[in-house]
Amino acid sequence: MSGIKIKGTGRFVPAKAITNEYLSTIVDTNDEWITSRTGIKTRFHCTTETHTDMCVGAARQALENAGIKPEEIGACVVATFSADYLSPSAGCMLQRELGLPHDTVCFDLNAACSGFLFALHTMECLLAAAPRKYGLVLGAEMLSRFINWEDRGTCVLFGDGAGAVVVEWREDYPSIHALLGCHGDPNMLGVTGAEKPAPARIFMHGQPTFKFAVQAVPYCIDQVLERSGKTMDDVDFFVFHQANARIIDLAVRKYHIPPEKYYKNIQKYGNTSAASIPLVISELHDLGKVGPGSRILVVGFGGGLTWGGALIEFA
Ligand SMILES: CC(C)(COP(=O)(O)OP(=O)(O)OC[C@H]1O[C@@H](n2cnc3c(N)ncnc32)[C@H](O)[C@@H]1OP(=O)(O)O)[C@@H](O)C(=O)NCCC(=O)NCCS
Repeated sequence: MSGIKIKGTGRFVPAKAITNEYLSTIVDTNDEWITSRTGIKTRFHCTTETHTDMCVGAARQALENAGIKPEEIGACVVATFSADYLSPSAGCMLQRELGLPHDTVCFDLNAACSGFLFALHTMECLLAAAPRKYGLVLGAEMLSRFINWEDRGTCVLFGDGAGAVVVEWREDYPSIHALLGCHGDPNMLGVTGAEKPAPARIFMHGQPTFKFAVQAVPYCIDQVLERSGKTMDDVDFFVFHQANARIIDLAVRKYHIPPEKYYKNIQKYGNTSAASIPLVISELHDLGKVGPGSRILVVGFGGGLTWGGALIEFA
């Protein structure tokens, strides 16, 4: 047995709220459509803040919350595809800003909206071999960089933000039993890349992506429970990637999850991709809905196509 548990959480959201009412003045849309189809009311976009600012804000809060000093961190993984530079990575920028030791492994990882789960699993593996047993895991996105304002089907969905957790690895902690998967599909959902002369922009085929998501979520729940040998009753809280309130509602209905065991903040932040799961975890922690001893089942899905699930406890 060996694994990681969460010691502390943090988050950072930029100051500028973008309301549905505001969007309806610049795009052919309206609050009723956005709310009924997605559950989103506002999202936040960076104006003066950088991606690095968001990472630093979330990471500092998580370190403080955990009572851990930067020099105790053995590895730092940032799940993102929207960092300030293609290189240096957001992880390298964090090393500099936080003053992490030079031998702390710092890098970025891209698994789109499932990225935080890929990063948690990567951290569990890394810390097993690291000299210092605390790790920083972030999900951070500045999606406002990539919004296609010509596409009303996607421009209303996405927001910016960062969430962070400090984890501790110990031989007597259980594994998070991560299930991670991908199915390479360049057309369904993503951000245009180097092959295009135009600036990078988000694209998505909404309905097939929705169908993929509603299949991925129960698959991940079932697989994680099977791998960990746990049942629904062993889970204190379910944390879902916040892509669409209807996707969460379908999962909640299918598994009869009571209201006190799941949480939605999509109405506030929109879809923040890799940041969405740690934003939920950090808010739940602050609200006292999760804390020492809590076991949470986390599910993500997104561009790639990628999906992931894990069961993680609070130290
Ligand atoms: C994006 C999403 C909300 C769109 O909802 P939908 O019910 O599938 O809507 P459609 O794309 O079929 O569009 C329906 C109609 O609404 C219109 N529409 C699209 N965006 C609109 C907007 N912002 N405002 C008003 N009308 C809009 C379309 O033009 C279409 O009109 P038409 O019927 O006259 O052609 C939904 O498909 C979704 O959530 N998909 C999955 C998202 C996801 O999980 N992402 C993965 C993880 S990151």
